[in-house]
Amino acid sequence: MSPDAPAPSHAVITPLPAPLHGSASVPGDKSISHRAVLFAAMAEGTSRLSGVLDSDDVRSSISAVRQLGAEATLERQPDGSLAGGVTGWGANGPAQPDAPIDCGNSGTTARLLMGVLAPWDVEVELTGDESLQRRPMRRITAPLMKMGASFQPAGRETLPLVERGTRSLRAIAYDAPMASAQLKTAVLLAGVFANGTTTVNEPAPSRNHTELMLPEFGVPTTAADRTASVEGPCTLKACEVRVPGDPSSAAFIACAAALKPGSSVQIENVSLNTARIGFTRTLERMGADVNVRHTGAAGKEPIGIISVAYTPALHGCEVPAEKIASIVDEVPVLALVAAHARGLTVFRDVSELRVKETDRLAAIVEGLGLLGVDAWVDGNDLYIEGQPDLTTPPNLTFDSKGDHRLAMTWALVGLCGKEPVAVENFDSVKISYPRFLNDIERLAR
Ligand code: S3P
Repeated sequence: MSPDAPAPSHAVITPLPAPLHGSASVPGDKSISHRAVLFAAMAEGTSRLSGVLDSDDVRSSISAVRQLGAEATLERQPDGSLAGGVTGWGANGPAQPDAPIDCGNSGTTARLLMGVLAPWDVEVELTGDESLQRRPMRRITAPLMKMGASFQPAGRETLPLVERGTRSLRAIAYDAPMASAQLKTAVLLAGVFANGTTTVNEPAPSRNHTELMLPEFGVPTTAADRTASVEGPCTLKACEVRVPGDPSSAAFIACAAALKPGSSVQIENVSLNTARIGFTRTLERMGADVNVRHTGAAGKEPIGIISVAYTPALHGCEVPAEKIASIVDEVPVLALVAAHARGLTVFRDVSELRVKETDRLAAIVEGLGLLGVDAWVDGNDLYIEGQPDLTTPPNLTFDSKGDHRLAMTWALVGLCGKEPVAVENFDSVKISYPRFLNDIERLAR
């Protein structure tokens, strides 16, 4: 398959012909790419971005900021990333768009935009695809309403919603009911234009890319373990952002290497932000051969190399509730690794997985069930009884349910096992990692 060939919708994924071997680099980090585009659009002047992920989700943010009056001239580079300039609306604020903003499948676009729009005199309808229209928005609209923004229809908890911003936004101190970087970011972005200090306290630390990037745009920001604040009002100033590789994409290559006998890979130039690489620790706790080496930084994001080699004797482990935010997008693929490990693996308090692109908890239990693995949910905990000699039954078809992380997880069953598997709606990989199959097949030649 050529690197740009569209991923097929119903894909038959065949076993890799050889172990994974050598160096890989993964596309730009999705969370950091969204923030680079949105913060640059909010800023005064022209920001220079590079390494931006070219995927459907990030394209949703790019077209949203264009609709709101930012000028984004991001062009595709030979390595498949996007790079170029974004000229923001700065102190003028966003333009009133003449049509609803369609955020596609991207929860990050929709939720962060709610914070971006709250301090301005605009009325904007936000909508999204079927999956996004099912996802909870009250967690974002509730604090923004406390700050003075309003949402119509009142009382509605899902998209489509019409947001009405206000120039006289109030700064707040908010105790978030869940660890969510999207919620934290929406409130902080609104707070940049409110008078005074806006603070978000979290029950557990969520990813902190916003706190690391806002100071680069000149916003006074303070951050500690479970709390972050911004000082407003403040105008963002254009800057340069280099986006490092996405650890959530790297996790699929790392887990493939842990599962495919004889493999040994190094994934380079990847963000080593501790709020994102919890999966390396989980793999280690399962006995996998994992190494993390810092090589530098991209802005304030630490970057480096993650190396993983196949280890025959994986064992189950327990992941405590306070670590879940650091693996929130990796639980499906880690659950697949746990299915091959001896003994029980428990992921504590994974309730947030029910409200991702699809109900990932139900999907994990269903998919592992097809493999003959005992997996169940008790309360909010996920249990998996691993089978070290697990073999894939013939003629399996997994349904990705249009969820990119599930599509890649079930693809690993075919790639790392001995039987081909079919994955329905495999083309959802274009949400975060369009070149997933090419990258992984290239490592197994
Ligand atoms: C994201 C935060 C996470 C994650 C999502 C991207 C972000 O969601 O699952 O894929 O870019 O802020 P939470 O809001 O649950 O932390």
